[in-house]
Amino acid sequence: MRRFLTIVTILLSAAVVGSWIGLWAENEAAPEVEPTAEQIKHLVGLPDTIPAHAKDLENPQAPTEKSLELGGLLFSSQCVMCHGSGGAGDGDLIDRFEMKIPDLTDPKFHKEWTDGQLYYVLSHGHGRMPSQNRFKEQARWDMVNFVRSLSR
Ligand code: HEC
Repeated sequence: MRRFLTIVTILLSAAVVGSWIGLWAENEAAPEVEPTAEQIKHLVGLPDTIPAHAKDLENPQAPTEKSLELGGLLFSSQCVMCHGSGGAGDGDLIDRFEMKIPDLTDPKFHKEWTDGQLYYVLSHGHGRMPSQNRFKEQARWDMVNFVRSLSR
């Protein structure tokens, strides 16, 4: 019995170490791809206009603690690569994809945009800003509330 357990332990350890090596090799093999100008052009194509009616769309979700928490959770996983962790527009991807991103911490930005317009951008995309319509309506309003909370 003891011998059997020793063999099983050795086999299991080998499998674990093997999968680590596999993962490590995979990571090593993944090259840092630099997109060409042609590829970057393919990534754009979303309309950069926002219809006038978006301005008056009312935010049905008050910026409660829960709403901000959920919005923040989404921001930190879905937005920081472009917008930067604090929302200043300095994410890792901006140079690679030649993006100009507004500073979401700038109070001026918040004066110029209504909640409805931000919601519209999240629902439809805007220029190089990808649409977030894979998230429920409610989650998109939570994101609007969180973006508001980034203002200095
Ligand atoms: C692939 C990069 C990328 C990701 C991911 C991304 N954004 Fe953006 N975002 C942009 C760019 C580029 C702009 C500027 C678009 C423009 O004005 O043409 C922008 C603009 C914005 C604006 C300002 C409105 C506007 O259209 O200028 C807000 C608000 C915003 N993004 C919120 C978010 C939120 C919230 C997320 C995550 C759920 C997110 N973005 C994810 C690239 C990104």
